[in-house]
Amino acid sequence: MKDQKKMIVVGISGASGPILGVRLIEELLNSGEKVAAIVSQPACQIIEYEIFRGETHFSSLKELLIKRGLARNHDLLSEFKNNDFFAPVASGSTKFQAMVVIPCSMKTLSAIVHGYADSLITRTCDVALKEKRRCIIVPRETPLSVVHTGNIHRAALAGIEIVPPVLGFYTRPESLDDVVNFVVGKVLNLLDRDHNLFESWGKKEI
Ligand SMILES: Cc1cc2nc3c(=O)[nH]c(=O)nc-3n(C[C@H](O)[C@H](O)[C@H](O)COP(=O)(O)O)c2cc1C
Repeated sequence: MKDQKKMIVVGISGASGPILGVRLIEELLNSGEKVAAIVSQPACQIIEYEIFRGETHFSSLKELLIKRGLARNHDLLSEFKNNDFFAPVASGSTKFQAMVVIPCSMKTLSAIVHGYADSLITRTCDVALKEKRRCIIVPRETPLSVVHTGNIHRAALAGIEIVPPVLGFYTRPESLDDVVNFVVGKVLNLLDRDHNLFESWGKKEI
């Protein structure tokens, strides 16, 4: 595996909005970052439903990225199955920089905060936490029950950074792409990566 320290692991779990994870991966690849991607089985089905609108079968992220035609540097992407515990990122000895779960389903959130590492996504979060590395989640559900808010609270206590995919109106979005880019840009801000996904507030005046 290439230059582990700089690698970002992106988990796409089975919540609505897998496009958020796809856009994040496109941005990271375009800026020359190494990405290890894990897509859960429910997420594969939601990609088929929401992104392919039931017209195409999801076979791999790489194929999806080629179809969309927005990402360069496909060779920087490694892809692992969510039940592949032999993947390098399942071990703390692989020095990836950060783990991002985007979107993060309530089931995956629950597993992460309880250390229930029964998938590669939850195991890699477990690794990130024990190795004191960045762990960012984009929890997606609405409305939230007390179970969900309790687990989000537990995540915050564990040092997980939480980016709920909420709408930002101050950027004056004109399309769904703008809304998606806003959330992805917020994740990139936390990762301290430059991007042009939305203009920061007051930039014109500075
Ligand atoms: C179309 C669709 C949308 C879903 N959206 C959400 C969601 O936004 N949030 C959520 O927590 N679960 C959602 N689910 C349910 C999860 O997919 C389900 O709980 C699954 O077990 C999650 O597994 P995973 O976290 O391992 O991917 C959705 C399911 C479907 C079919």
